Amino acid sequence: MIPSSLAIDSKLPWVGTTIFTVMSRLATECGAINLSQGFPDFSAEPALFEATMRAMQNGRNQYPPMAGLPELRHAIGAKVESLYGARFDPESEITVTAGATQALFTAIAAFVRPGDEVIVFAPVYDSYVPAIETVGGRAVYASLLFPDYRPDWESVRRLVSPRTRMIIVNTPNNPTGSLMTADDLATLADIVRDTDIVVLSDEVYEHIVFDGGKHLSVISREDLAARSIVVSSFGKTYHITGWKIGYVLGAAALMNEFRKVHQFNVFTVNTPCQAGIAEYMADPSRYLGLAAFYEQKRDFFRAQLQGSRFEFLPCRSTYFQLVRYDAISDLPDREFAEWLTREVGVAAIPVSVFYPDGRDDRVVRFCFAKQDSTLSAAGERLRRI
Ligand SMILES: Cc1ncc(COP(=O)(O)O)c(C=O)c1O
Repeated sequence: MIPSSLAIDSKLPWVGTTIFTVMSRLATECGAINLSQGFPDFSAEPALFEATMRAMQNGRNQYPPMAGLPELRHAIGAKVESLYGARFDPESEITVTAGATQALFTAIAAFVRPGDEVIVFAPVYDSYVPAIETVGGRAVYASLLFPDYRPDWESVRRLVSPRTRMIIVNTPNNPTGSLMTADDLATLADIVRDTDIVVLSDEVYEHIVFDGGKHLSVISREDLAARSIVVSSFGKTYHITGWKIGYVLGAAALMNEFRKVHQFNVFTVNTPCQAGIAEYMADPSRYLGLAAFYEQKRDFFRAQLQGSRFEFLPCRSTYFQLVRYDAISDLPDREFAEWLTREVGVAAIPVSVFYPDGRDDRVVRFCFAKQDSTLSAAGERLRRI
């Protein structure tokens, strides 16, 4: 250890180690089945690795263009147009990023100034607020209404002020598994009309939507497309969360500002992975098949919990299932999650960590992006309590 007596005025005094790291570490310590952190415990297809290896072996190992390999940006543009009907110019309106986390941080840094307000919805994904505060902005909280987590648009209307610089939405939503509807997007468009508010839309689970439902990207509406930055992640789509690679879409005027920060924040994203993904995504069934793949996982996991005393909340999308546990325990959710990990041997995430005030509805989140054998072993333990 290096001794240091510097007086550090932390920009994020309230931030500690994320609950995902804490629970994953505890799961390892206790030998528990880890359904806490959102990552698959199965492999991507060999074809993706082969394409990436080929790129390395063919010498594609130096800096790519700042905005990303043209072939990948074209592939993204073609996919987006075919799915959402919006045409983004690969040259000026699509940028490849080092995962969605960097994309979100960069978008916030590019548009939010000290004193600006950013509206977020609680429960809120954990990276947004630290990013806002690092650049001197202030998060103000609207709600997703328990228990079906519909956006409370009235609270958004009340929160909009001349200081509002940005609204962040996340659909499909982590941790709730809820989805924005066409009415939600119409209301959002109505709220931001005649303002200069930027919409930052986190759509990393865009391909994981169940029961015949449809992901509605903000860019499916022209008025929102004109003022939005949309973020997606190949980590979620191709079972490669550790590759940390994603992309953003945005009208050229917005993207121009995004890239000013991006080029000094990461500059470029690794070349062979971009080349491998560009080749792999030429077959659309590889992302179009994802919804059915995870719907089967969701249903399998729910079947494992039949006969347990957990109560499912609706799961319309993502690879997370929320459950109420009040029939089992009256412990607060953090304590319940810790007890579950230590004593039952299954790790989960307490949903109160996604609320600024620690609101506790006695709900925990399980990740079902796991092999069936993992899910059935977890189910066997969870049915016993
Ligand atoms: C809603 C949401 N946004 C962003 C991310 C981060 O994605 P990436 O791993 O590509 O940075 C995640 C990952 O869990 C997420 O759930």
